[in-house]
Amino acid sequence: MAGDITTKTIHPVSHIKKTGKADLLTAFERAELEKWLARYPEDQRQSAVLGALRAVMHEDHYLSVPKMDAVAEYLGIPPVAVYEVASFYSMFELDEKVAARYSISVCTNVSCMLLGSDDILAHIENKLGIKLGDTTPDRRFFLKREEECLAACCGAPMMQVNHVYHTDLTPEKVDEILDGLE
Ligand code: FES
Repeated sequence: MAGDITTKTIHPVSHIKKTGKADLLTAFERAELEKWLARYPEDQRQSAVLGALRAVMHEDHYLSVPKMDAVAEYLGIPPVAVYEVASFYSMFELDEKVAARYSISVCTNVSCMLLGSDDILAHIENKLGIKLGDTTPDRRFFLKREEECLAACCGAPMMQVNHVYHTDLTPEKVDEILDGLE
């Protein structure tokens, strides 16, 4: 139907001028981008945005505007198409102040709360010497405030460390996981 915005797709915009912003991308980020691009039709380059942002998170631990612009230019899509994805998903951080090598999300939603997530959270706060929402001074850990169920209720209580899920947590298991990180 003419004028129906719900059916519109953002296609690569060939007239977007190259300004060299994409040069900011690291070799790892470019390799990841190419890996994801290979999975989609040539006219659906925007489909690689999620994979690209994951790669930037891996490198920088947050998403800066210059890096999001670099992704947009590399894909040939408007920057806003990257910003809207970056700001929609809670797994992405936009604030440099919280950037840390490891982002820890303890689920405190109903199932996890009933099975002791508050104690797990308190244990981690004590262990790292920070409060929920803070980053350790050495930028090794960020204790993220998680608002939603992380979809692993059958393994409650659970936490996510970067992309990895850890379930059936006890304070001892948390120590083992955090102490075992590189
Ligand atoms: S309530 Fe914690 S994973 Fe669902």
